[in-house]
Amino acid sequence: MTKSTIDFRSVNCGRAAPELLEALTTANTGTELGYGADTFTAALQTRLAEVFEAPVRVFPVPTGTAANAVALAASCTPFGAVYCSPDAHINTSECNATSFFGGGTKLVQLAGTFGKVSADALESAIATAGTGLAHKSQPAAVNLVQATDLGAVYSIDEIAAVSRVAHAQGLRVHMDGARFANALARLGCTPAEASWRAGVDVLSFGVTKNGGLLADAIVVFAPDAATSIGFHLCRAGLVWSKMRFASAQIIAYVADDLWLRLARQANAAATAIAARIEPIAGVTILAPVQANELFIDMAPAVLSNLEKDGILFYRRGPRLARIVCRWDTSDADVAALTGSISLHVAAAAAAAAAA
Ligand SMILES: Cc1ncc(COP(=O)(O)O)c(C=O)c1O
Repeated sequence: MTKSTIDFRSVNCGRAAPELLEALTTANTGTELGYGADTFTAALQTRLAEVFEAPVRVFPVPTGTAANAVALAASCTPFGAVYCSPDAHINTSECNATSFFGGGTKLVQLAGTFGKVSADALESAIATAGTGLAHKSQPAAVNLVQATDLGAVYSIDEIAAVSRVAHAQGLRVHMDGARFANALARLGCTPAEASWRAGVDVLSFGVTKNGGLLADAIVVFAPDAATSIGFHLCRAGLVWSKMRFASAQIIAYVADDLWLRLARQANAAATAIAARIEPIAGVTILAPVQANELFIDMAPAVLSNLEKDGILFYRRGPRLARIVCRWDTSDADVAALTGSISLHVAAAAAAAAAA
């Protein structure tokens, strides 16, 4: 297999941080009870309560999809409506797992910029939803993706504004934090400020996509939002018997701020790419680069030439490249990408001028 080292396809293509692998070896001694009754899972509850400066219930899960779908199922009735951005991962990429786990829950898309939900759009959607009418899905929850699927980051004020509207109408606030660490690194605030203090009731806490191995978690801040999560998870086969290994990964992830260091590295690579390509005529960055992803409009010939140079990325349209930086994206990767873009954009411009 040809191994390209210039890979901007997805965080999923990257390695796990060595600290998490070491944690697995450390956890692999002696005996422990199964299904989350082990000492590592107990320690994880305490550790994340410290990280979030609040009592929390933590449920380690295998995937971000499971975290989102079960967190929302537990927040809704089967006839509930979940408001989200059209670009939200629950809407575009999870095979409607929210509805499956929720027993019929409906996703309702709200217009917003760069993958965000706005408080105003939520307020008008709830006002016209038909609350109390048996023929209508009933407003139940709102989903915020932090950082968004287009690489932007909600400010604390934006989260708080959406949460105020949601709570005033009895809705739950769910945050899809597959890239929560990247957002936090950008915001420079505490985990508490970026979550429950701004009104988040339940968080899908991403680990795998930021140097994790095989675990994410549902973190519950509102105690009454947690009551059915354990049942949903067990019924879906989403409770590991050897839970200690999942919990050990997440404990290592937050130890000594590893998660924030990894996220800062990924964000810094994206910022460096943006800074180098922004001045190039013929290159347009389509969304604010506030976390670890860039969406770049370039001529189709430039995209093809980048691919010929061995640079891996996903096309999201005939002119649109999605570039994703990981914790282990190197300066050389950044230089290779930005160098190739400059070269091929200049060549395309010269060819156009000569024609
Ligand atoms: C924002 C967001 N949420 C959830 C997920 C789902 O995570 P998983 O692939 O672990 O199911 C992804 C995956 O890319 C994502 O980008």
